[in-house]
Amino acid sequence: MSISPFKLERFFAKYEFSAKYLLSSSDIESLGMDELLKMGSPETLALWKSLRLGYTESQGNPQLRNEIAKGYENIRPEHVMIAAPEEAIFVAMHTLLEPGDHVIALSPTYQSLYEIARSIGCSLSSWDLQPGENRWTIDLDKLEDCITDRTRLLVINFPNNPTGFLPSRQEFDSILTIADKHGLRIFSDEMYRQLEPEPSLRLPSVSDLYSRGISLSGLSKSYALPGLRIGWLTTREYGLIERCITFKDYTTICNSAPSEILAIIAVQNTARIVARNLEIIRANTIIAKQFFDQHSDRLAWIPPRAGSIAFPRWLGPEPLAEFANELIEKQGIMIVPGNIFDYPGNHFRLGLGRINLNEALERVDEYLLDTSNKRLASSQDI
Ligand SMILES: Cc1ncc(COP(=O)(O)O)c(C=O)c1O
Repeated sequence: MSISPFKLERFFAKYEFSAKYLLSSSDIESLGMDELLKMGSPETLALWKSLRLGYTESQGNPQLRNEIAKGYENIRPEHVMIAAPEEAIFVAMHTLLEPGDHVIALSPTYQSLYEIARSIGCSLSSWDLQPGENRWTIDLDKLEDCITDRTRLLVINFPNNPTGFLPSRQEFDSILTIADKHGLRIFSDEMYRQLEPEPSLRLPSVSDLYSRGISLSGLSKSYALPGLRIGWLTTREYGLIERCITFKDYTTICNSAPSEILAIIAVQNTARIVARNLEIIRANTIIAKQFFDQHSDRLAWIPPRAGSIAFPRWLGPEPLAEFANELIEKQGIMIVPGNIFDYPGNHFRLGLGRINLNEALERVDEYLLDTSNKRLASSQDI
């Protein structure tokens, strides 16, 4: 198998543990071990204390699958397979796809959602989100135009990484209707689901509504627990979970025993953890909007509808790559430029989940002021 490097992960590998400020992280300020354990019930704390570190069940801890299923309408514990989120994408794509299949993937999105299909030998069409007036938009006619008689899979990701786009319920239903009309499976990455500023915006899980749908969720984003490496696939399609488990024998076989117990505690406390995370995002969104308004000559804010990230646009005279390089070299601030997402147009990703956002934006402010002053001085020299 030959697979292209994962641009975002390589970019993060370079800066994640060396840059002072990470302005483009998609995850939320992570919870501490003590904070999570404080949420444990006497029963889960007893499980934690008595845990033996043996192999675990391939499909995932039954109690964890039971807790996860409670968060869905039509999913039962047997419709759930636990794996690290990135692993779950790899397993699902290898289970669903054959060389020569045609796949349509929303763009921009997380690279593995289309790159693994490419590495399997599938042909790809990207269904592009468009930056509209003050919001991201999708065009359903364009989705229909991408469909051929070889199309097997539609890959969607709402709330979207990196734009924060979330379709309306009507648009969402139309996507399912189009997929159904053409007999497509849907892989729905729902890693940022529950991070909607209003509960009324939350869309159902595709795996709840669509019989050929397979959804991905997990603890890395909405639960602020990426270090547990726990995610899950849900599907009601007959036999699909068993096929995924069979493939997983070649990846991790089973999950980390301590992580599964901690995940039970997290899922039992979903409402509390999500509320904590939404509060961080809400406060940061206000700060970011004010900052972008102050710098509207060089930065254009495109508000995210949900999730923990935005994908604003750089309008300055220097190329975006130069802005990003100078920020990291002079101010120790990492931003991820849009080309890392194979997306044109001078966008960059802005994370809204870290508690030092304000401090990082103050450093960006210093940089922007400094470059404006230098430009002014050089124009006066002439
Ligand atoms: C949309 C999306 N799906 C899946 C993943 C993978 O999650 P993890 O890194 O926890 O495996 C990410 C991580 O950034 C993501 O943004």
